[in-house]
Amino acid sequence: MKLTQAELKQFDEEGYLFFPSKFSTEEAELLKQAADEVYAMDRQEVWRESSGVARTAFAAHTYNEPFRRLGAHPRLIEPVEQLLDGQVYMHQYKVNAKAAFDGDVWQWHQDYGTWARDDDMPEPRAMNIAVFLDDVTAANGPLLFIPGSHNLGIVDAGHDLETTSYPLWTLDRETVTKLAEDGGCVAPTGPAGSMLLFSSLLVHASPPNISPFGRTIVYLSLCHVDNHIRAFNREEWIAHRDFAPIKPLPDNCLNELIAQQSVAAE
Ligand code: SIN
Ligand code: MN
Repeated sequence: MKLTQAELKQFDEEGYLFFPSKFSTEEAELLKQAADEVYAMDRQEVWRESSGVARTAFAAHTYNEPFRRLGAHPRLIEPVEQLLDGQVYMHQYKVNAKAAFDGDVWQWHQDYGTWARDDDMPEPRAMNIAVFLDDVTAANGPLLFIPGSHNLGIVDAGHDLETTSYPLWTLDRETVTKLAEDGGCVAPTGPAGSMLLFSSLLVHASPPNISPFGRTIVYLSLCHVDNHIRAFNREEWIAHRDFAPIKPLPDNCLNELIAQQSVAAE
């Protein structure tokens, strides 16, 4: 999949691109079922909210087959290779649950702020590409973006070790207010299977989910192979150390699995 000139321009201006229904309902269902299986595991990579429900499953591509395939899916890898101008490796892989009623906040932050400060990633030649595994609506804790904020470089941040179970370098309210006066604040919403790509410098957050609807999103954080991290302060399954370039799989790699599962069920 190649991004058009108009999409490249929009990414430059706004720092993100949204593609509704880029994956089929069947593909999204396969991955949603995989997420439920992963969240049921008792593994160190599966972090929980204080209520005990899953918050994030890290590195799910290393222990789950549908997520392994998604981690090399050409619809995700190719546009990022195009934007970063070369081959990429997997810096981080997260399946975020944002569970019904209990899904907790992600404070305002830039991902590169954490990758630079904690992992010594040399440059922001890295970004996220995400797939919605549930319908994401205004009600169930969507991502909030400040469009254009990726053009400001690294913004000052403080290390928040307390608000949630996941440490993050977060922005203060004055900074967020000033940025949003210029850029506004948007929440890309859409059906399960939608794809969202965003700059590692884009300022973003997400509110708690008190709705009765879960909001599962899987994120690949991809980094140019030349720009790999230099410091290994965090667990290997949070900030990966395998810098080998990802070789994209065929576009039907998830459909193959769906076909195999339906044959097995007959
Ligand atoms: C993130 O910012 O990395 C995740 C936020 C979310 O899933 O709501
Ligand atoms: Mn983030």
